[in-house]
Amino acid sequence: MKVLLIGSGGREHALAWKLAQSPRLTKLFASPGNPGIAEHAECVDLAPGAILGFAREENIGLVVVGPEQPLVEGLADELRAAGILVFGPGAAAARLEGSKGFTKDLCARAGIPTAAYARFSDAEAAKAALPRFGLPVVIKADGLAAGKGVVIPTTAAEAEAAIDDMFGGGFGSAGAEVVIEQFLEGEEASFFALTDGTAIVPFGTAQDHKRIGDGDTGPNTGGMGAYSPASIVTDAIAEEVMARIIRPTVDTLAADGTPYSGVLYAGLMLTAEGPQLIEYKCRFGDPEAQVLMMRYDGCLVTLLAAVAEGRLAELGPPALADRVALTVVMAADGYPGPPVKGGAIGGLVEAEAAGAQVFQAGTARVADHIVASGGRVLAVTATGDSVAEAQRAAYAAVDRIDFPTGFCRRDIGWREIAREAVA
Ligand code: AMP
Ligand code: GLY
Repeated sequence: MKVLLIGSGGREHALAWKLAQSPRLTKLFASPGNPGIAEHAECVDLAPGAILGFAREENIGLVVVGPEQPLVEGLADELRAAGILVFGPGAAAARLEGSKGFTKDLCARAGIPTAAYARFSDAEAAKAALPRFGLPVVIKADGLAAGKGVVIPTTAAEAEAAIDDMFGGGFGSAGAEVVIEQFLEGEEASFFALTDGTAIVPFGTAQDHKRIGDGDTGPNTGGMGAYSPASIVTDAIAEEVMARIIRPTVDTLAADGTPYSGVLYAGLMLTAEGPQLIEYKCRFGDPEAQVLMMRYDGCLVTLLAAVAEGRLAELGPPALADRVALTVVMAADGYPGPPVKGGAIGGLVEAEAAGAQVFQAGTARVADHIVASGGRVLAVTATGDSVAEAQRAAYAAVDRIDFPTGFCRRDIGWREIAREAVA
């Protein structure tokens, strides 16, 4: 089967790496791809309007969409209408990520555990509602804001300023509507499920590190590292998440006539009252895909095609290996602000010789060498029998990489390692 992968980040490099190992793959294309992806795929740079024509011309059997933006914009609908198999939800179901208010309303209808909330389309009404929520309070821009549309003020003055900022265009059109939520206390974890709209199978858990600095300090980022599985999501919690969160979501969307097909990524808060949904994403996480792919030994083309074809029930649940995978993101100096671009990167071959996989995110090829071209640049990923072992292997590889204008956290996995030390 010929496969076209859409995207250019570390997530897509991990997907390309795993797709390339699939016995059913005959040829992999990626648009636009990156230098790491180019080791596994022929990279083509297709404008959004040119993807369908390319898929027809090349007789593509499956299109795998990595990022949320094209899904929210309806790429999967366009391809499906033309009879092309696609892994990823249509625009109506992708609203689970594209509109936080949509997801909260769906949770309310389906009785899914989540923080109390209210939706607002003007600043005065939003400010007037603040006292109901107490402090800290969670204020979110409704639309896609590249992971930056959430603020958690601890004073009323900060909360009012955040509301003014969102309605004033601080998050672009994403902030035309605002959701205010009750603050949930607990530990966060990510839960992944594959669904074709009817059948649902769990596909692993992970925890990530969103803050830039060691000890989870400093500004938020897209994610500085992650590991899978998240031991805090016990089998009992996983069952509860499937029954009380994932299953009712999939069933409600199906009953609405907008079935969800693809990977459903649930951001959870594990509270004293049980797991609650923080948010949904309509695609694999980045860098969570990197650790999930390191634990999947099956044929990814077969799995993703079964989701796309509505044949997931026939396949049986996909097994993720018991081993732990851990990824350390190496970012360019300046990140999460404007990153330094063009910095030389060496030692990639040496790092992989140490047993890791180096997934490329923000890189470019200049002549015969690789340079940094984005904020998050590499995801150095390794496995082990424990988080401590996977962490040692990942940092052994990091230490072989020569990236003078880059940096990384040195403590990815610390929470889990502290738990392992006690066990
Ligand atoms: P989101 O973009 O909705 O995932 O929110 C980003 C981050 O904000 C989450 O990963 C949480 O750390 C935090 N967050 C969002 N909603 C809540 C909530 N209701 N209570 C506590 N923290 C939250
Ligand atoms: N790592 C969080 C995300 O992919 O959105």
